[in-house]
Amino acid sequence: MNIEKVGIIGCGLMGHGIAQVAAQSGFTVVALEGDQGALDAGLGRIDRSLAKFASKQVEKGKLTEEEANGWSAQTRGRISGTLELADLADCDLVVEAIVENLEVKNELFKELGTVCKGDTIFASNTSSFPIAEMGKASGRPERMVGLHFFNPVQLMRLVEVVRTDETDEEVFAAARAFGEACKKTPVSCKDTPGFVVNRLLVPYMSQALQMLERGDATKEDIDAAMQFGCGHPMGPLTLTDYVGLDTTLSILEGWVERYPDEAAFQIPQILREKVAAGKLGRKSGEGFYVWDGDKKA
Ligand SMILES: NC(=O)c1ccc[n+]([C@@H]2O[C@H](COP(=O)([O-])OP(=O)(O)OC[C@H]3O[C@@H](n4cnc5c(N)ncnc54)[C@H](O)[C@@H]3O)[C@@H](O)[C@H]2O)c1
Repeated sequence: MNIEKVGIIGCGLMGHGIAQVAAQSGFTVVALEGDQGALDAGLGRIDRSLAKFASKQVEKGKLTEEEANGWSAQTRGRISGTLELADLADCDLVVEAIVENLEVKNELFKELGTVCKGDTIFASNTSSFPIAEMGKASGRPERMVGLHFFNPVQLMRLVEVVRTDETDEEVFAAARAFGEACKKTPVSCKDTPGFVVNRLLVPYMSQALQMLERGDATKEDIDAAMQFGCGHPMGPLTLTDYVGLDTTLSILEGWVERYPDEAAFQIPQILREKVAAGKLGRKSGEGFYVWDGDKKA
């Protein structure tokens, strides 16, 4: 199963990165957005990221300025933008990276099922929804996988490749090979809540919040414990501020609703209260900590 042309739907935080790494690896990329402003913003992000990478190569003496500019122009030349779903019809692989809303995603996959050629592979970058439901919506469940990249896509080396009970083996192998071609380390996972990373990480964050709530330790001490005792780059409360308290809450709420008997999925009251107060973490300037841009104030 040969993948040459890749459609990326949604050119936001994740989609622009996936489009870029695919183009850097030689794939022809069509990036689809909902409106011209969002498309321009996504492509602009790619331009800035390529320029930054190219100038670093020059600084490090790995490429001359001419070579770096040539590399970046060639990479960018592989990416085109569109507002028309029909332009994805002949893609070998389509990766969806739109808003985390299952109804909206299902509607999109339903349309893709009518537009794309018969052997197109469908992938979702969802962090929390069952891949099988989108496969069902597309009408081609055997051609559906999860391709869960991590933020920032250009730097993070992991991609989780998710198979449902219905995913065709060849489709799964082709999706893994695509991840490898994008110079990521693919890990295979069944279609279970949170796949590998978020299934471990989100309950861990929830436990840390519950410790804080009970007054077992201060937020600074919980964070220091995991940073210096386990070698994590940041503690769980700082991490929750980074991820966004609203995002964390919405993942947990979805899981609690779907899997009410799973003891690891618990919503700390403190999380609900902070979100209700608009304290969403780094992006709103305050969560568990007060933020000044990317740094704790
Ligand atoms: N942000 C993260 O750290 C992260 C990590 C892994 C996976 N994800 C998942 O990736 C997906 C995208 O997240 P994001 O953070 O990039 O969101 P984002 O809001 O930055 O980007 C989503 C983009 O999709 C566009 N869009 C929305 N509906 C569309 C449609 N019908 N057709 C075309 N474009 C449409 C929006 O204009 C927006 O630019 C979500 O499913 C999210 O759960 C996010």
